[in-house]
Amino acid sequence: MNLSTYRPRRLREKEPFRRMIRETVLSVDSLIMPYFVVHGQNICSKINAMPGIFHFSIDRLIEDVKETQGLGIPAVLLFGLPDIKDEAASEAYAENGIIQQAVRAIKSAVPDIMVITDVCLCEYTSHGHCGIPGDGRILNDESVELLVRIALSHARAGADMIAPSDMMDGRIKAIRHGLDLAGYTHIPIMSYAAKYASAFYGPFRQAAQSTPAFSDRQGYQMDPANIQEASREVELDIWEGADIVMVKPGLAYMDVVWQIKQRFGYPTAVYNVSGEYAMVKAASQAGFIDEKKVVMEIMLGMRRAGADIIISYHAKDVAGWLRQRE
Ligand code: PBG
Repeated sequence: MNLSTYRPRRLREKEPFRRMIRETVLSVDSLIMPYFVVHGQNICSKINAMPGIFHFSIDRLIEDVKETQGLGIPAVLLFGLPDIKDEAASEAYAENGIIQQAVRAIKSAVPDIMVITDVCLCEYTSHGHCGIPGDGRILNDESVELLVRIALSHARAGADMIAPSDMMDGRIKAIRHGLDLAGYTHIPIMSYAAKYASAFYGPFRQAAQSTPAFSDRQGYQMDPANIQEASREVELDIWEGADIVMVKPGLAYMDVVWQIKQRFGYPTAVYNVSGEYAMVKAASQAGFIDEKKVVMEIMLGMRRAGADIIISYHAKDVAGWLRQRE
């Protein structure tokens, strides 16, 4: 670069030139739309801290997933709310649990959209933890056994991909092994690999009624101060059999996304979580920011940081805006 002659604005002043040298492209292909599913019929109830996001019963879920597919979004991510939460998270692996029913319904009504299921205990346990408590701790290996059961029940229901979000040690290896033994060698795993103990999950926990009844999740989710550890978590999960690795949350962790993509070159996902969504919605409803512009900038930033895949409650809006541009 010749610093005495280089004038960066030459290529900035005309839109076609800006287009020609644009480094990062946002496409609908990167998006995953999350959903909360509940028992019952004809339910579409607003989630307080997440304007535009709903608890759907399966019949209404199907209608919305059809729209999502119509917008070109390749995949949805399902979270279930059971009727009864108990110590053992029984509904999480029940053949007729809410997720198992939802997966079967989507696969028969909207077969071409990929159905990814969140595998965790916290939505199903009475205490709201992602594992089984005992001896004043969350027990690791006992929890992993249950996670394998959940993953298998999702695969049997027809899930296209399994996404464990619990942060127990060794769960990717155990789930991969369990899936393979049962003949699901073809079902990929998207691992919540570097998942931080974050206050940005607040609205999700209200929506899933999964705030821990005692203590918090710092005994298994990562310390927000650490990035080297994120690399170790990701390396472990890749070694254990993860096909896609995820960083979560997104906005406060873009350095982690960058490092993971650069270092491992693996398909990398980022979760633009509920608290990030709630902040954007609140500020735009107050008239403080331009929602569309801010959301598109966040999406682009996540892609620029290295994310191939973005899980976002804004996914449908983003897909719609991308379409308007065409
Ligand atoms: C389950 C799970 C959580 C989220 C995704 N899977 C909640 C948590 O760990 O407390 C959060 C997603 C969001 O905030 O949008 N373990």
